[in-house]
Amino acid sequence: MKYSRTPALPSRLPQVGTTIFTVMSALATECGAVNLGQGFPDFDCDPRLLDMVNQAMREGLNQYPPMPGVPALRAAVGAKIEALYGHRYDADSEITITAGATQAILTALLCCVHPGDEVIVLEPCYDSYAPGIELAGGTVVRVALTPRSFRPDFAAIEAVLSPRTRAIIVNSPHNPSATVWTRAEMQRLAALLVPTDVLLISDEVYEHMVFDGAAHVSASSIPELARRSFVVSSFGKTYHVTGWKVGTVAAPAPLTAEFRKVHQFNVFTVNTPMQHGLCRYMADPAPYLGLPRFYERKRDLFAAGLASTRLKPLRTAGTYFQCVDYSAVSQLPEAQFCQWLTREVGVAAIPLSAFYEGGFEQGIVRLCFAKREQTLRLALDRLLKV
Ligand SMILES: Cc1ncc(COP(=O)(O)O)c(C=O)c1O
Repeated sequence: MKYSRTPALPSRLPQVGTTIFTVMSALATECGAVNLGQGFPDFDCDPRLLDMVNQAMREGLNQYPPMPGVPALRAAVGAKIEALYGHRYDADSEITITAGATQAILTALLCCVHPGDEVIVLEPCYDSYAPGIELAGGTVVRVALTPRSFRPDFAAIEAVLSPRTRAIIVNSPHNPSATVWTRAEMQRLAALLVPTDVLLISDEVYEHMVFDGAAHVSASSIPELARRSFVVSSFGKTYHVTGWKVGTVAAPAPLTAEFRKVHQFNVFTVNTPMQHGLCRYMADPAPYLGLPRFYERKRDLFAAGLASTRLKPLRTAGTYFQCVDYSAVSQLPEAQFCQWLTREVGVAAIPLSAFYEGGFEQGIVRLCFAKREQTLRLALDRLLKV
């Protein structure tokens, strides 16, 4: 052969391109816009947490930890779940530390989905779910949450349940709509699933951001769900360290055993000093118990400011996202409106249509309020001109 060339590679994920988050963040930088698009805090974490991780490094805790995670951290996570949601997971056989929630969800899908299985997702949904299902050889079955209210449509979910359904992914508090499932809704889900062998992947990364005195309803708190669930959370969201990528999965022992088979050959372990630092920091529950109040203040400041603009804020019951209806301002499709808002107004947002496969249009965009007060005020000043 004359030339050697890179072999052609048929894509495992032919539909996947650059995500809207990357596109909008790049545009925000290019235009000098306030980036309320991608969901991450623009403030730092508690310096005590940094000290604790630093201390762990200096103590020489820098080699491989046990495959499922540092035992003391797993015990602390188990104790927290029991205290908050009343379900006792065995730290040795039922809790695993992961490289963030994204890896946890992918690993859960890889361990339970067989080629030909169906997995239900409720749109709009986080962008990693569908590619994860496809990589596992499964078929994505999309059910829309009720437009505008974003409440689950149980009749529609029931209509797609079949003997091929392996799992359903539920996310509450919900990105992007900022809604929170009620206990009654979680119980209806349980009633639907009880006669089936369908597994639940419960994405609870915003578990500590539920507002107005409401309580987060974890799948672990409902026995009929707990026994079929992978309950996923993320320290990144809870402790303002999204770049650390440390998460957790709690699941009954037989599910955890299968999960760990994949985890072991996927990441094997998650970085050691972070785990020790997080474990020490968790000894004080105040940071996560105080999170609703912390984010409620930002939500209220931002929503009060938005009330003076022509954008109509939807109710945020949880997460650090604020959806706004822009139909009084523009008839542009959501993605084009976000481009315009970034370029002309100087505020980056994310179109809700990006969270639907077919690009469903509702005239709603998502803004992130996990920002310093000065950042939110600057964005509000600009949005007043819309
Ligand atoms: C609903 C949802 N699930 C999972 C994740 C991923 O979390 P992690 O950064 O821990 O992988 C995010 C992050 O934005 C999210 O919004």
